Amino acid sequence: MSSQALEPFVIVAIDGGAASGKSSSARALSERFNLLHVDTGSYYRALTSELLAQGVDAGDIPAVTSALGGLRLGTRVDGRSARMEINGRIAGEEIRSREVNEAVSHFAALPVVRQALLAYQRGQADVARARSFRGLVMEGRDIGSVIFPNADFRFFLEADPAERVRRRAREGQEDSIAERDRLDSSRRASPLSCPAGAVAIDTTRLTLPEVVETMSRAIASRLSPA
Ligand code: CDP
Ligand code: CDP
Repeated sequence: MSSQALEPFVIVAIDGGAASGKSSSARALSERFNLLHVDTGSYYRALTSELLAQGVDAGDIPAVTSALGGLRLGTRVDGRSARMEINGRIAGEEIRSREVNEAVSHFAALPVVRQALLAYQRGQADVARARSFRGLVMEGRDIGSVIFPNADFRFFLEADPAERVRRRAREGQEDSIAERDRLDSSRRASPLSCPAGAVAIDTTRLTLPEVVETMSRAIASRLSPA
């Protein structure tokens, strides 16, 4: 048997509020350990952008359900990142627009929307295996609680709201962070919260390399750096 066959397939879940540092740390871990990086926030954003383009209102559940039924979801792997295709097309920068920032949490609160992405998100582990990655690092709001509750590593990132607003502003983005956090934390379907057993990291006064180092030390107990 080759040594590769003995190597574990590792699933890393990272959850947290807006601008807590999920994407940057997930990207760094994907490079360090050769994991497929899955940004599920971009999936909710792409769905939102598509539904808005179709003129669908988040308050009109029958219209949302009907529109979702017409969408075919696929995956394209770009380097170490998974990208969601909707009817064969990958969304662009419009998913970071103010319209999407304001609407995404309203769509994401709908069970029918979460259901539409549930099996698809779990299936990303098969995509990672098929592409010979050593595992998957998936970030979002409910990865360690709902999508992969048995993930090998579950991290929950926190940071003071004022610091998170500063981070977004430094990126030149106008974002409704407080409002999204409020909606994401208070919804009934898969609310944002630190699941029991997850490792919480307060990143307010940590640099990104320090956050990545903390996570890497834990992961390296199972997987050597690539
Ligand atoms: O980058 P940022 O943390 O600001 O947000 P994001 O990860 O791009 O997620 C955008 C929105 O999608 C969130 O505010 C949630 O409403 C929703 N989302 C979710 O409900 N569940 C996930 N697993 C990921 C995102
Ligand atoms: O994915 P999420 O919205 O949680 O956050 P991000 O996009 O990874 O991080 C938002 C911004 O904060 C980026 O520009 C990061 O470089 C920065 N950041 C930071 O300054 N210090 C940290 N400890 C983590 C992230």
